[in-house]
Amino acid sequence: MDDVVLELRGMCRSFGALKATDDVSLTLRHGEVHALIGPNGAGKSTLMGLISGRTTPDAGSVWLAGQDITGLSVAQRARLGLARSFQVSSLIPEYSALRNVMLALQAGEGHSYRFLRPVVFDRTLQRVGRDILDRVGLAARASVDAAFLSHGERRLLEIAVALAMKPQCFLLDEPMAGLGVEGTARLITFLQGLKQQAPILLVEHDMDAVFRLADRISVLVYGRIIASGTVAEIRANPLVRAAYLGEESTQ
Ligand SMILES: Nc1ncnc2c1ncn2[C@@H]1O[C@H](COP(=O)(O)OP(=O)(O)O)[C@@H](O)[C@H]1O
Ligand SMILES: [Mg+2]
Repeated sequence: MDDVVLELRGMCRSFGALKATDDVSLTLRHGEVHALIGPNGAGKSTLMGLISGRTTPDAGSVWLAGQDITGLSVAQRARLGLARSFQVSSLIPEYSALRNVMLALQAGEGHSYRFLRPVVFDRTLQRVGRDILDRVGLAARASVDAAFLSHGERRLLEIAVALAMKPQCFLLDEPMAGLGVEGTARLITFLQGLKQQAPILLVEHDMDAVFRLADRISVLVYGRIIASGTVAEIRANPLVRAAYLGEESTQ
């Protein structure tokens, strides 16, 4: 199908005797948030690692916009537009919000002349960088060092940095973690708009956020997808309620 942006086919990964990812196939389509839920240890982060290239699969393949990217490095995948966000390491704390975005813009263009010409003097990059900060609602914080931004603002800056790389899709592993009620609500609203620019594969513990954001949900248990469907279908699925939602409500 041509509206498929990201596709996993028969992904497997074991750690010793443990099958952390057990024959997982799924798709991420244009314009959607596809949420991946499941209990702790179900293999959600392992799967994100297999997609981003941090973890090597034992079997299976990853396709981005119709291209087999299974053999590519993390950096090569990022350059093709596979954006991982909410890694604090993607920000340079002692650089301003704007400079962080400008560096990402420059990296996305494959320029290496930053060693010849400091990025801060490039007017075009400045304009595009400010524009991106504006889109995530950080225009007023452009000159603040990343280190001095609030937790929620850093999350938004990480998205801005990802946007600068012209992503084909976003992989978000627990973006709501550590955000308060208000921060979570703001991020949900923001992600609802962001998915129009690039679809989002979302791992999230906050089930209210998942139910508000997701167009589709896949449930992972012991490395396998046990159910996949709309929010209504997943909420009503007895298998899911027993394996996951029931467990959650007793915590
Ligand atoms: N590098 C690793 N070495 C050994 N076991 C691992 C490694 N990474 C993950 N695991 C195991 O794989 C299973 C899935 O982990 P993980 O993907 O982190 O689950 P989740 O993100 O759903 O909580 C867990 O049992 C975990 O202990
Ligand atoms: Mg995890």
